[in-house]
Amino acid sequence: MNLQEVQQFLELYQLEQNESEVWLENRLQQIKIAEEYIPTTEELTFGVRVAWRNSNKCIGRLFWQTLHVIDARDILKEEAIFTALLEHIRYATNDGKIRPTITVFASDRVRIWNHQLIRYAGYETQSGIVGDPHSVEFTRVCESLGWQGERTAFDVLPLVIQVDGREPQVFTIPDEYVLEVPIRHPEFQEVEKLGLKWYAVPIISSMRFQMAGVDFQAAPFNGWYMGTEIGARNLADYDRYNMLPAVAEIFQLDTTKQSSLWRDRALVELNIAVLHSFKEDGVSIVDHHTAAQQFKLFEEAEEKANRDLTGNWTWLIPPLSPATTHIFHKPFVNVYNTPNYFYQKPPY
Ligand code: ARG
Repeated sequence: MNLQEVQQFLELYQLEQNESEVWLENRLQQIKIAEEYIPTTEELTFGVRVAWRNSNKCIGRLFWQTLHVIDARDILKEEAIFTALLEHIRYATNDGKIRPTITVFASDRVRIWNHQLIRYAGYETQSGIVGDPHSVEFTRVCESLGWQGERTAFDVLPLVIQVDGREPQVFTIPDEYVLEVPIRHPEFQEVEKLGLKWYAVPIISSMRFQMAGVDFQAAPFNGWYMGTEIGARNLADYDRYNMLPAVAEIFQLDTTKQSSLWRDRALVELNIAVLHSFKEDGVSIVDHHTAAQQFKLFEEAEEKANRDLTGNWTWLIPPLSPATTHIFHKPFVNVYNTPNYFYQKPPY
């Protein structure tokens, strides 16, 4: 235990949760006597929310106070952890009305090997990669643990759960838990024929949540998607699903010269399709212009609360038409405060 970090965290908690000086003194005294800091569920709840507030790469931070916390620190059996993850998926998905949610597992004991709870597999084949190239290595790991996918472009990977350094266990997510959105365009029917889809809820499970010097290696969390994450990156990037050439063909764009801006036009149509599809299916999603406006409100709220705004400009600007948002035109200080979410080395 690092008493200084515990104290720092509890001082922030006392300030923002309007606790008294006496409360702080007593709490610190307790912790010193116990010689360990085990956050209460209230402290944990505050911690995960502030960690979101401190996430410099995130444009969606206006909603940090709404993060729903599931305290799963007492769940230590692989099977029970699997059940808790399914419950997270169900609660967060909420039939499309997505609820920002985090499930916190026991510090130092639980590790989820997946990058996101729901993610598509990627397979290296004779004729190139099938599925999501981002998942190729992890897909191989799953196969080496005995899992087998159907080898479509959109196989949902299994959950790989490890407790106390034991052999990881593999669990298949039942289909009914995975809400997906087929991608179609509001005006051009042909887009649907590409057979594209994406899952509704991005639940990051590979990051470490840190508060008061305590590390939680397994603390999967989600918000809802910003359209560009899917339409301008996952489905568009050259080293992901690489769909711009196929979209350009549907829209009969001139791909023989760069200067026709066929990539740019295809990008816009694909992003229109993503937003349209999610909205029509009643699945929460935000376009990048609205997200930027919401981020502006977050900036103002932070200012009003007398807190220094931190941010990572390279991540905050949307990958589509960045200069149309105010974010593009101002600098951000990329200082990492804790609590926060950090990268950690993959366990495989
Ligand atoms: N960019 C990641 C993806 O496309 C998801 C990251 C988290 N995004 C979010 N909207 N909370 O899968």
